[in-house]
Amino acid sequence: MTIISTQPIAGQKPGTSGLRKKTPIFMGEHYLENFVQAIFDVVGAAGKTFVLGGDGRYFNDTAAQIILRMAAANGAARVIIGQGAILSTPAASHLIRLNKTDGGIIMSASHNPGGPTEDFGVKFNISNGGPAPESVTEAMYKRTTDISEYHILETADIDLGKIGRTSVGDMIVDVVDPVANYATLMESLFDFPAIAALFKGGFRMRMDSMCAVTGPYAVEILEKRLGAASGTCVNATPLPDFGGMHPDPNPTWAKALMDEMFGANSPDFGAASDGDGDRNMVVGAGAYVSPSDSLAVLAANAHLAPGYAAGLKGIARSMPTSAAADRVAVSLGIESYETPTGWKFFGNLLDAGRATICGEESFGTGSDHVREKDGLWAILLWLNILAVRKQSVAAILAEHWAKFGRNYYSRHDFEAIASNKADAMMAALRGSLATLPGQTLEGLTVQAADDFAYTDPVDGSISKAQGVRILFEDGSRIVLRLSGTGTEGATLRLYLERYAAGPEGLDLDPQDALAPVIRAAHTLAKIENYTGRVTPDVIT
Ligand code: G1P
Ligand code: ZN
Repeated sequence: MTIISTQPIAGQKPGTSGLRKKTPIFMGEHYLENFVQAIFDVVGAAGKTFVLGGDGRYFNDTAAQIILRMAAANGAARVIIGQGAILSTPAASHLIRLNKTDGGIIMSASHNPGGPTEDFGVKFNISNGGPAPESVTEAMYKRTTDISEYHILETADIDLGKIGRTSVGDMIVDVVDPVANYATLMESLFDFPAIAALFKGGFRMRMDSMCAVTGPYAVEILEKRLGAASGTCVNATPLPDFGGMHPDPNPTWAKALMDEMFGANSPDFGAASDGDGDRNMVVGAGAYVSPSDSLAVLAANAHLAPGYAAGLKGIARSMPTSAAADRVAVSLGIESYETPTGWKFFGNLLDAGRATICGEESFGTGSDHVREKDGLWAILLWLNILAVRKQSVAAILAEHWAKFGRNYYSRHDFEAIASNKADAMMAALRGSLATLPGQTLEGLTVQAADDFAYTDPVDGSISKAQGVRILFEDGSRIVLRLSGTGTEGATLRLYLERYAAGPEGLDLDPQDALAPVIRAAHTLAKIENYTGRVTPDVIT
């Protein structure tokens, strides 16, 4: 059946990770349908095979039924879907690659809260398993502005509860175990016997899945396959509203885990993951690991895991991520890459075999095993390293800083600012860049200032205006950019970094170490003048 839709979703631009909106908007008449039709119009559906799954948030199941019926009506040959329409983002990426499909649709708003009044999202991943590049999402956006009809089959709901083959119209639907293939992939990369021996020796861990998608994955891998004590995994049942949690694994939103790890008799190792399972936070007993440091430590020690024993080809990080990983690349004698924010920019480097490990300051780390960041992967690589080095997280961090120096790092987020105010602030800052070099503030002298532009070393594509960078002569750095994933007004992200070579001054509180850089940032960007804000909403 073809439906002539009366409301094109003009103006709804997919951001850094697909299209995210409030759930009621997605549930509105024709809204999801128009976006899905735009996807199929751009990538073509006839005769193709896709993967489909989501993080289980409110509307996940209904949306899956709609997408299946639309895929069938658009002539798709086959859809591989996780049981109950569940797939973590990294597991979906893996299934796309394993089955050599033409791509996949992932239903998630990542770490944003879920529920009837919270967020929903849809994104398309291409056949390499990674997020669609900008050229593709731009084409989808353009299509949404002039779409006038969509195709959908009229059928009863498909039973997604039973593993096995079924069909919708002429299209095959394969309902698969969401966890099994992913768990096998992890087993091929990491030394499971060594990690199992660690747990057997009394090593205690807390894994907080924040009532989101990684629960079943964590229970299967950590408790069942690796023998971690039952109860190691908490908040392990995915709920449509994430039990009211904000499933973003950082010290603010994973506070219960932080409290436990910094409390008396804490476990040896703690970890959390986000709504769709691609983000991670790791924390040792009394030792928080910043994501930028986590990337650097993982890169420096990856060879201890069987999947990376041959060494790394290169390390890639997003521009706002600290330079800690670059220092590891130098010491390993391998290339390092600085890309714009968003995992999609790592895809070409991974496909071309130029990078093995990638990371972002926003609690994202991953490797060439899939084309998404992967929360449980990072947690398992940490476990593998801990099992081999037989040291605490705190000791591993201290040794890392003693060897490489420490890149103190923090991100300050100012949320739900009126978009016009945020835009005016960024425009003024961009306009002032040429005047900044040579200026001294808070004892820091500006060496260079620019608006980050990236030329992809593989395909030559250019991405401009990716964030303002202000570099100081002592190596300190300020970065400002507006979020591309928020759903309410604008979010200003202020990234702060300062390098300490050591051996003294390696164990300061990051906010103290960064205090002059923070003050300089507020003065330079006139944050209060433009937005009225002084205090960030979230500090990571
Ligand atoms: C945020 C993070 C970015 C990440 C993206 C998707 O995007 O900052 O690193 O790739 O979520 O998880 P932003 O809201 O800053 O555009
Ligand atoms: Zn996510």
